[in-house]
Amino acid sequence: MFTTSDLSDRTKAELYQQLASQLRALVEGETDAVANMANCAALIFHSVPGLNWAGFYLLKGGELVLGPFQGQPACIRIAVGSGVCGTAAETHTTLRVPDVTKFKGHIACDSASRSEIVVPMLTSDLHLIGVLDVDSPELDRFDADDEAGLKTLAEIVARKL
Ligand code: SME
Repeated sequence: MFTTSDLSDRTKAELYQQLASQLRALVEGETDAVANMANCAALIFHSVPGLNWAGFYLLKGGELVLGPFQGQPACIRIAVGSGVCGTAAETHTTLRVPDVTKFKGHIACDSASRSEIVVPMLTSDLHLIGVLDVDSPELDRFDADDEAGLKTLAEIVARKL
């Protein structure tokens, strides 16, 4: 049985280091992409405080399609270039949005979301695979430590896709 740890007395960098170790152990020897993304989404959602959604959108047929996630049911298809996810996908850049109401074109899947971070997942030769999307009900929830930590987690999963 896997239990997520109580990481409340650790710094954010330590939290993400521990999550990266846990994720490497979870995906070790497993080749199934859905299983690996599902465990990654669950690990983030249940270990990183202050979230209401964590999951993946994958590039399929030229658009982003909902993948494994934790949280409320979400929009299924997002055009590349639309919303936070589609913009991160199009530009291959991580987007940290401190207030989603101020992001032109933000797609509201869960009305509780106030801030969001989207990390693109790329192949080693820089082709887009999809994005990791994490939402919070708190304004300005994600800082540079979250960005660095979530990038590492997304990369661990991307290497298995
Ligand atoms: N807010 C995202 C849509 C996905 S949900 O947050 C799960 C966006 O604007 O792309």
